[in-house]
Amino acid sequence: MGASVGLIGLGVMGANLALNIAENGFTVAVYNRTLERTATFMESADELAAQLTPTGSLEELVASLAAPRMIILMVPAGAAVDSQMRALLPLLEPGDLMIDCGNADFNETQRRLSELDGTGIGWVGAGVSGGSDGARFGPSIMVGCTQAEYERVSPILSAIAAKHDDVSCCARLGTDGAGHFVKTLHNGIEYADMQMLSEAYGLMRDGLGWSAGDIGEVFARWNDGVLNAYLVEITANVLAVHDEASNGPIVDVIADRAGQKGTGTWSAIEAQKLGRPATTVEAAVSARCVSSQGALRSALSDVYSSEGATGFGADDTVEALELALLAGRLCAYAQGFNAIAAASELHQWNVPLARVAEIWRAGCIIRSRLLDDMAEAFQGGVAHDNLLTNELFVPQMTVAIPALRQIVGDSVAAGLPIPALSAALAWFDGIRQPRGTANLIQAQRDFFGSHSFERTDQSGIFHGPW
Ligand code: 6PG
Repeated sequence: MGASVGLIGLGVMGANLALNIAENGFTVAVYNRTLERTATFMESADELAAQLTPTGSLEELVASLAAPRMIILMVPAGAAVDSQMRALLPLLEPGDLMIDCGNADFNETQRRLSELDGTGIGWVGAGVSGGSDGARFGPSIMVGCTQAEYERVSPILSAIAAKHDDVSCCARLGTDGAGHFVKTLHNGIEYADMQMLSEAYGLMRDGLGWSAGDIGEVFARWNDGVLNAYLVEITANVLAVHDEASNGPIVDVIADRAGQKGTGTWSAIEAQKLGRPATTVEAAVSARCVSSQGALRSALSDVYSSEGATGFGADDTVEALELALLAGRLCAYAQGFNAIAAASELHQWNVPLARVAEIWRAGCIIRSRLLDDMAEAFQGGVAHDNLLTNELFVPQMTVAIPALRQIVGDSVAAGLPIPALSAALAWFDGIRQPRGTANLIQAQRDFFGSHSFERTDQSGIFHGPW
């Protein structure tokens, strides 16, 4: 009898997913373009090797699977996925399914589905979060496919996913690109949260002059409170790590240039396209780009000093920072969910927002204590698809916003950059204004381009007497 599932791509994520699937009692046929990697993988599989079938070609992989076949692709997002899909296609039969577990752009998932139209071969877009440990021991899995396809893939995907109170953190979130869209926004929130945490680190380092070790202790304390989250926990951990070569904290010798592979930018762009801007994500992506402009940064620092900047640090700064981060994180999630809700409506995905919050509670990178409240809020229904309207969050924001305001004010005065926290506050102040200033923009647009405007006191379309 053939293996239950095939898996292509034995990089760290693919190898760990294969071991996870095998450990859950399924048989897996594996294939990697470079065959040496397959051999090394099989050696490392120890007692799980009995569940795994190494194959040396796509033909052999396909032949070793039980029909109808399911094949997981865990290859770099983009062109590699297309080339694997096209190479597999002639070897497959109607009823077979490919499952893309990479960080695909959901637009590409939709395009691949239309390419497969009429072939009878299925394509499941599954966003997998949790890094290498998650892949091995239980990720959060965001799936986009038909209900019938989900019934086929779910026994495996639900079994390997993380569990929160015994409930699997794997769910079907809609058809076609829904899973990859939600995974993209997950990553956008990940970018925003990481940026805000690094801004808090920067304020303590440059504003208060604290050492990495002292800052790490603050993060460790925060992890026991309202900010409890995987990203806060690992921040405390990395800040405590000593480097032998420099005989100091390792963070102090890590170059301050952040890498990125695209999901943050996609989140920001998709949210903009939907008219639901995720400004904290935009700020986080921009901050990573600025971080990589090292030569310009040092040239400008020679020209512009912090002259005019005040010192940073009121007595209650660390407590205020904790609350400011809470407010920033809530804004980032609110923006992310808002974009997901808008995409769901546009693509008719019917994304169950409560399920999204539920499956983000374990396994994924942005898991945090707040997600329990978010799941509860969405279970009860949320007005305007915006979490901040919910009674669970109003009291938290009411306490946290003054702290965010204080931190943003102090940082601006001190010349210390906190773009994501500032963006969160600017967005919040904009979204809570009953009367904004876009009336003037409408007047300007009509003045130079006859674009017309609506009036508050009469219905219809108008032009000004310019
Ligand atoms: C996850 C992560 C993961 C992502 C990395 C790196 O959910 O496990 O989001 O999918 O690839 O975080 O992303 P960047 O290289 O863009 O920072």
